Amino acid sequence: MEICRTSAELRSHIAWLRRQGLSIGLVPTMGYLHAGHMALVERAARDADRVVVSIFVNPTQFGDPADLEKYPRDTERDLAMLREAGVEAVFLPSVEVVYPEGSETIVETMRLANVLHGEVREGHFRGVATVVAKLFNLVQPDLACFGEKDYQQLQVIRQMVRDLHFPLEIIACPTVREPDGLAMSSRNVRLSPEDRAAALVLHRSLDRAEALCAAGATVEEITAEVTTMIQSEPRSHLRAVDVTEAVSLRHVSGKPSGPLALMISAEFGGVLLIDQIEVTP
Ligand code: PAJ
Repeated sequence: MEICRTSAELRSHIAWLRRQGLSIGLVPTMGYLHAGHMALVERAARDADRVVVSIFVNPTQFGDPADLEKYPRDTERDLAMLREAGVEAVFLPSVEVVYPEGSETIVETMRLANVLHGEVREGHFRGVATVVAKLFNLVQPDLACFGEKDYQQLQVIRQMVRDLHFPLEIIACPTVREPDGLAMSSRNVRLSPEDRAAALVLHRSLDRAEALCAAGATVEEITAEVTTMIQSEPRSHLRAVDVTEAVSLRHVSGKPSGPLALMISAEFGGVLLIDQIEVTP
């Protein structure tokens, strides 16, 4: 497995693969890998000849410097997992490689980046779109895989790819969960056992919302029920419950006529967790 730390190293390895006529699938990550990330790697390997994984904790998508500081890292373990999975190359750049001295260009999906999670995390999706655009230009993959767990992120990337004519396919992968239903996340390790148990309310409330939706409930009824369920868990600190039109993330009301996105963010002991599903009435 090739480990590339500079753009020159990466570009020369990519060029070598291209000369052999091989297609490339990219999986962008911030490391501290778990089964959710590995499912993306497997998916990429199914559709592309070679898989490139990037590991980069992107400072521009963190609002709070303390959150960036606390982001868990274990590069040796990550590399062992990727080697085991048969990954072709890992791009492991420093901040200076991705944001060279004097960088000033940003990419922002103007509406999608600033609604819902984007409204409470100012600049977050601008940071995500900017770094992913850079990764697409550096790796020039044929396809790239993203998790549905980060539903708004996925829609932001799709919008950016369409708007900027990036010549690649975006593949969405279903959320991988722990056996008890908690969505896998690199942040889960920071939960105390009590908060870890309390966080199951996220998945329970999404299940309930799905059942309500199937039974013909209105958007307002679904929102109220999910809000009540999460607020009744004393260890939770609810940040947002959003029930919107799927994909566009536009607000809707009354009885839904098409697929909905249900998105929750809540803190447990200071750890921000998100979970979301798409449901069809
Ligand atoms: P990170 O949180 O490391 O996630 C990398 C990819 O793994 C994302 O596409 C995310 O949606 C996916 N993922 C995370 N947990 C998952 C789970 N339980 N099931 C399925 N997929 C899951 O998302 C980012 O990094 C960054 O914002 C990034 C796109 C790399 C840009 O910096």
